[in-house]
Amino acid sequence: MAKYEQLADKLASQIKQGIWQPGEKLPSLRKQSSLTGYSLMTVLHAYQLLESQGVLSAVQRSGYRVADSVEVASTTGVMQSAESVSVNDFVFDVLQASRDPHMFSLGFAYPDPALYPRHQLTKSLTAAAKQTTVTSALDNLPPGNRELRQLIAQRYAARGLHVSPDEIVITAGALEALSLSLQVVTKPGDWVLIESPAFYGAMQALERLGLRAVSVEVTPDKGINLAAVERALQNKPVRACWLMSNFQNPVGYSMTDHTRQALAELLAKYRVALIEDDVYAELYSSGQPLLPIKHFCKNGNSLLCSSFSKSLVAGFRIGWVAAGEHAKAIQKQQLMSTISTSVPIQMALVDYLETRNYEKHLHQLRSALRQRKKAMYEYLSGHWGSFAKVHHSSGGYFLWVEFSPEVDTLAIYHMALALHITLAPGRLFSLHGEYSHCFRINASLELTPARLQLLNRLTRKIIHYLEQI
Ligand SMILES: Cc1ncc(COP(=O)(O)O)c(C=O)c1O
Repeated sequence: MAKYEQLADKLASQIKQGIWQPGEKLPSLRKQSSLTGYSLMTVLHAYQLLESQGVLSAVQRSGYRVADSVEVASTTGVMQSAESVSVNDFVFDVLQASRDPHMFSLGFAYPDPALYPRHQLTKSLTAAAKQTTVTSALDNLPPGNRELRQLIAQRYAARGLHVSPDEIVITAGALEALSLSLQVVTKPGDWVLIESPAFYGAMQALERLGLRAVSVEVTPDKGINLAAVERALQNKPVRACWLMSNFQNPVGYSMTDHTRQALAELLAKYRVALIEDDVYAELYSSGQPLLPIKHFCKNGNSLLCSSFSKSLVAGFRIGWVAAGEHAKAIQKQQLMSTISTSVPIQMALVDYLETRNYEKHLHQLRSALRQRKKAMYEYLSGHWGSFAKVHHSSGGYFLWVEFSPEVDTLAIYHMALALHITLAPGRLFSLHGEYSHCFRINASLELTPARLQLLNRLTRKIIHYLEQI
């Protein structure tokens, strides 16, 4: 193969992989020559060959561009979702598909990013960059930025929960908080009580840490059954209990104060550590925020995990754990794994919370989520009501949709993908393949006319599918 053909081959395969996108300009002849070591003549011949094959088009005095008609690999690999193999592979597929900007991402786990206060956050980032000093990195080692921990403690105090800034550790999102919490209260082989259905992150963390799960059902109407929790604690030597008291993901249920208190007492009685995942706490639709179970725990064996990901910004990756007696152990564990959370980002959040109007943003966010969830609920119960039950909740932005047991929502998931819609099938949230007739729908996205059309097409496909089974 001549040298110019070798180069043309390399470039063609780069284009196929999506390294160069349709319409994008390739490096000039001179630059390509210096990048690759081929002579100018060889590069010119390679470009001309690709032009003759329709891969490149020459633009007068502006070099060569990738032809618009060239097919490149999708950057997220959306359509290659495998039949469910394991929770991990499947979660990865669903999350990747939901990141594609061309998708109507009803399977997405975060609220519509358009609802985050982007301009205010940018201002805070700029302010933080100006304040960063050479010693900032050391000032913010675990447990994390002092002011940020204080601001979080103050927000809890306003809700009626007394948490000292000293027991708070700043983490990379709630997921790191939850994962560190599990690590410090368990060792491989231990039993952990989780909900069923549960947030898939809980099952993944258990799998990664070699822990065993005992699950207790949570229903959209009644939540968790305390007698079932007690039976589980009697039957297995459970070390920790990971659950959500507010707007449980995926079913949306929030516990009553009575249940929170009774759970706190049960866990104390059986000496079980509480790992409370409270990421949706700020997203109540009306009234006041509810107190976490931690409020009712009389001992220090409770770890309350949360983040700004759902209420302010997901990409900053800032969360925390109010770790009670485990705070020191969490800090040590964090030092051994990630050392600390990004310093300028912690400082930007301090600036945001101190100088921008977080309460006003939360007010607007709650109101937008309430309206959008209502619109989605009305659409789904109006169009799907005859064959599915749509469960509504008093906060957050998820709807849990339940078909009759013979329906396989994985089939509907694939139909939806073909229409560029993602959904979160029920089996993502199950340990043993239950809930394969359910979906979680992200209702934070605006129902534009184009999206309504897509939903109508999906509805027709679902009806057709249900007629066949
Ligand atoms: C219930 C629940 N917990 C934790 C997380 C992770 O939160 P973060 O993005 O702050 O790590 C998510 C995100 O989807 C979630 O839904």
